[in-house]
Amino acid sequence: MVPSNLIAKKRDGKRLSKKEIHWFINSFLNKEISDSQMSSFLMAIFFRGMDIKEISSLVNIMIESGSKLDFSDSNYFIADKHSTGGIGDKTSLILTPILGALGIKVPMIAGRALAFTGGTIDKLESIAGFQSKQSLKKFKSLTIKNNCAIICQSDEICPADQKIYKLRDLTATIPSLPLITSSIMSKKISEGINTLVLDIKIGNGAFMKTLKEGKALAKMMKKTGNEFNLKTDFIFSSMDQPLGKYAGLACEINESIDTLSGNGPKDLIELTLKLGSKILIRSGIASNIKNALALQKSVIKDGSALRRFKTMIHNQGGDLCHFKKLNQPKYTNYITAKKDGYLSKFNTEGIGWSLVELGCGYKFKKSKLDNSSGVEFIKKIGDQITRGEKIYRIFNSNREKLEVASKLMEETFKITDQNESVKLIIDES
Ligand code: URA
Repeated sequence: MVPSNLIAKKRDGKRLSKKEIHWFINSFLNKEISDSQMSSFLMAIFFRGMDIKEISSLVNIMIESGSKLDFSDSNYFIADKHSTGGIGDKTSLILTPILGALGIKVPMIAGRALAFTGGTIDKLESIAGFQSKQSLKKFKSLTIKNNCAIICQSDEICPADQKIYKLRDLTATIPSLPLITSSIMSKKISEGINTLVLDIKIGNGAFMKTLKEGKALAKMMKKTGNEFNLKTDFIFSSMDQPLGKYAGLACEINESIDTLSGNGPKDLIELTLKLGSKILIRSGIASNIKNALALQKSVIKDGSALRRFKTMIHNQGGDLCHFKKLNQPKYTNYITAKKDGYLSKFNTEGIGWSLVELGCGYKFKKSKLDNSSGVEFIKKIGDQITRGEKIYRIFNSNREKLEVASKLMEETFKITDQNESVKLIIDES
């Protein structure tokens, strides 16, 4: 086979066979196919799409590229959650230990920042010493020991997604139904879980801008899950504004700890517990939504979810003792309102790109992140604003980048006379 012929075949909108897809991915992993050839292939998929059979072949080869976790020697209830990517979305960091405290095993493979969205792994790596790469054997033992562990893809686990994910981030090939489906589902199926809840983000800060697009993605993911005996539930949640009060790196770890301590913002708690309820009901641990919410609140109240979180960090080499001191930002800017009214709209994707400029995401292959960087959302949609009031607090440790990001942030909100609101949970299935 010739790589450029397969790229051309997809470029011209033709169907690729299972053999061709497997050969292309394997040759990329063997370094015979270059990053530039793979980037063209991804762009061809982005424009031409894939049918169900092609997606299934892609998911299969992405799983087979590495080793899978196997819990078949036990009776554990093993579950996970994943989101399609958002701004300020730290629900994975909060839900994983909550479920762990309720007896569910959660072996989570998470990702880094993608385009304008934040990455769970980058946030965790703001904790000094935290090891997001673990061997399959250690990952399994960490999950069994503490009920939860969060790692990233590696040469052993989902190597195809590890390499393709990075390329997609740098080549504007993320918002593609087959590429998102194969990236997420290959990770989740490799975890050996039996239940998955997917948070499909919808809106101006999401890859899926409309509910219709989100539903099409969910349908594809459900179908893929069924093929692998994985039960999937879906929440469609709004990304028309950032989730919670902070977006960034260390600041999102702080907000997660606050939330696990019982002091989280309302929207973040609502979505986290809603996602958790889906898993708790599937597991039989909760009989209904009311019961599931009460159980999750009880492990926040008694401190057991926070203890799970701290143990998880400790087990993976992280040091939380000096965390706040080590991640103090050197510089801070405020963006203020130029008129009275109501905060009626965010350009959430614009906020995400400002965060990339600030130091929270990757512009280049070798971009170095700034763990101290982030934004505090002092006001959210529907808040009444007086001229001169602070809308954002922006912080990092590089003055030049702070200035660039601040300029962009000035353009990311609208104040009008209209009092608007955003419905956080749009739909579920
Ligand atoms: N999260 C992933 O893991 N992959 C994607 O493609 C998008 C979100």
